[in-house]
Amino acid sequence: MPLFDLGVLGGGQLARMSIQAAQRMGLRCLALDPDPECCTAQLAPVIAGRLDDPEAIARLVGQSDRITLENEFIPAWAIAEAFALAGAEPQRLMPGWDVLATVQDKLLQRQAYARYGAPTPRAVPLEGDGSEAIEAIGFPMVLKARFGGYDGKGTRYARTPVEFEALRPQWQDGWLAEAFVPFRRELAAMVYRSPHVCGAFPTMETVQTNHVCDLVYPSGVDASEVAIAAVEAVGGYGLFGVEMFELEDGSVLINEIAPRPHNTGHYTLDWGGVSQFEMHVRLAMGLPLTEPVGGDTCMANLLGPPGDGDLRSALTGALEVPGSHVHWYGKAYRAGRKLGHINAVGAGCVDRAVAARSRFWDAWAR
Ligand SMILES: Nc1ncnc2c1ncn2[C@@H]1O[C@H](COP(=O)(O)OP(=O)(O)O)[C@@H](O)[C@H]1O
Ligand SMILES: [Mg+2]
Repeated sequence: MPLFDLGVLGGGQLARMSIQAAQRMGLRCLALDPDPECCTAQLAPVIAGRLDDPEAIARLVGQSDRITLENEFIPAWAIAEAFALAGAEPQRLMPGWDVLATVQDKLLQRQAYARYGAPTPRAVPLEGDGSEAIEAIGFPMVLKARFGGYDGKGTRYARTPVEFEALRPQWQDGWLAEAFVPFRRELAAMVYRSPHVCGAFPTMETVQTNHVCDLVYPSGVDASEVAIAAVEAVGGYGLFGVEMFELEDGSVLINEIAPRPHNTGHYTLDWGGVSQFEMHVRLAMGLPLTEPVGGDTCMANLLGPPGDGDLRSALTGALEVPGSHVHWYGKAYRAGRKLGHINAVGAGCVDRAVAARSRFWDAWAR
């Protein structure tokens, strides 16, 4: 029997919060991260190694019964090779590497949704001089890196042929072109899917500032059907964050999915029901699932301050707001980096999460 119950590829905050949920149930966890001082190292052993190195991954696999991940950019081939090296059965991994390979490529994702009949913007490869993509998509157009994009890095807009020309130096083969969606709101829902059970957490509205998730709160609508279709379309098992666009007429299109816990699911840490992290662990471990039911909660992200501050004062400031809970990841500060989040529960949760966040930063800098 391996030493650890659960091995996590990655040691950032999503691994940390998954491991916190697992440890609460008594499970022994191990992580792999290039940084031995990653925030997960504060609570569990971490193997220092690259996430694209099959030998490093094999060391995690060799010591852990079940394997999951917090980061969808780990090359699917490296995980497959690691499982071969460790002589481990693929069923010990959730989500599977074939699903990962689809999700890693924004074009393959779009094609999978279209094939499945799930609603999604039209997308084509952006190749050659781009004229075929212009012909197929027209303007306004969104240009995206197929691989490796996050927080809007790798997303560009061309409203006109002139803007398209101006962007030419910024894209190359390996980008895609897709229809611009004139959305009314962005929505997100966490989807859980095992071979036996499938369902979704509530549909949330998400507000992005400079392409980074800023606020998440109940949307008042239920887009579960579309969210679940996205996961079925890629044949995924595990926990998935599904980002969606809501149009003026109320219809919903899939933007993208992440095969792991997601920033838009952090509210579940305090909503009273099962958290996304516990659901992730239950899925990865093959444990029974439970229906996610909880109360209205709003999450405000704490994005990196430009300089040092005082956490204890900041906590005092934020926690004066009733019903607020601070989650601090223990990461090194960098401007714009996701360092933590605040959840506020109950009536008026949006105003209270925003108020708690401003008090947090006011007190931090003082
Ligand atoms: N087709 C589109 N039409 C309009 N806005 C879009 C479109 N695709 C992406 N966006 C905007 O850009 C943001 C980032 O795009 P996304 O594909 O989610 O990339 P990332 O991997 O960086 O999250 C989205 O949250 C949305 O605000
Ligand atoms: Mg996104």
